Amino acid sequence: MIFIKTYHCTECAHGRSLLGMSSITEQSWNASHYDRAGAFVPKLAADLLELLAPQPGEQVLDLGCGTGDLTRQIADRGALVVGVDASSEMVGEARRKHPGLDFSLGDGQELRFDGEFTAVFSNAALHWMPRADAVAEGVARALRSRGRFVAELGGARCVQTVRHALRDELLERGIEGYGAPPWFFPTVPQYARILDEAGLFVRTALWFERPTRLEGSAGLATWLELFCLPLLQALGDRRAEVVAGVERRCRAQLYRDGSWWLDYTRLRVEAVKP
Ligand code: BEZ
Repeated sequence: MIFIKTYHCTECAHGRSLLGMSSITEQSWNASHYDRAGAFVPKLAADLLELLAPQPGEQVLDLGCGTGDLTRQIADRGALVVGVDASSEMVGEARRKHPGLDFSLGDGQELRFDGEFTAVFSNAALHWMPRADAVAEGVARALRSRGRFVAELGGARCVQTVRHALRDELLERGIEGYGAPPWFFPTVPQYARILDEAGLFVRTALWFERPTRLEGSAGLATWLELFCLPLLQALGDRRAEVVAGVERRCRAQLYRDGSWWLDYTRLRVEAVKP
């Protein structure tokens, strides 16, 4: 039996702060693997960008910017944008890919901006930040009066089939105390309340299912490598059998027409600072 006491997420080693953040939560990612296997993440954000509708000259914070592809698109509309991410790999790759744009390393749960931005934008990042109340407070503080927060994150029940398969596979193999990363996938009322308590006025909040096809040859194993790497690393020589077991459990529900379709759900919000 393997007993792994805690989920050590390499996303949680502390580092030093930059750009007004008191301390940062360093996230460990393989940025080039993310760009290949996770290319669908920025691609699926086109209509979120339309909701943001960045205006020339306005100041935008892209929170959890990853390798900066959406930051680039915001800048291309003429906005002055700062991308912040908790992963030094992501920030390094963003700077390499988009020289001339402003990227900083920082933890979204410890933002220390104060009224610098007319908009805060975030795509597919906030579910990695379990201290959602701290995020909302930092966003509210970062915004100017009448500034807007436009964000999308995983919603309640996101990738539930995969999470349950992982849980059951580990359980059956006697691997205790371990599971999927501690993602934060809230319901609409949960998240609306968090924003409300931070002093943001929720204009829209929408939960929806968005089955997500893993493109090309990327299968569920590749997705697990991308999003559950610390867990897989900790499994050592049992990694391959656990991954195969998870695939086996998920196949009937998530594999069709020659592709994996993950049971993503999204929570999309637009809120304003009064
Ligand atoms: C996402 O990037 O949307 C995501 C990441 C991990 C689990 C589920 C969703």
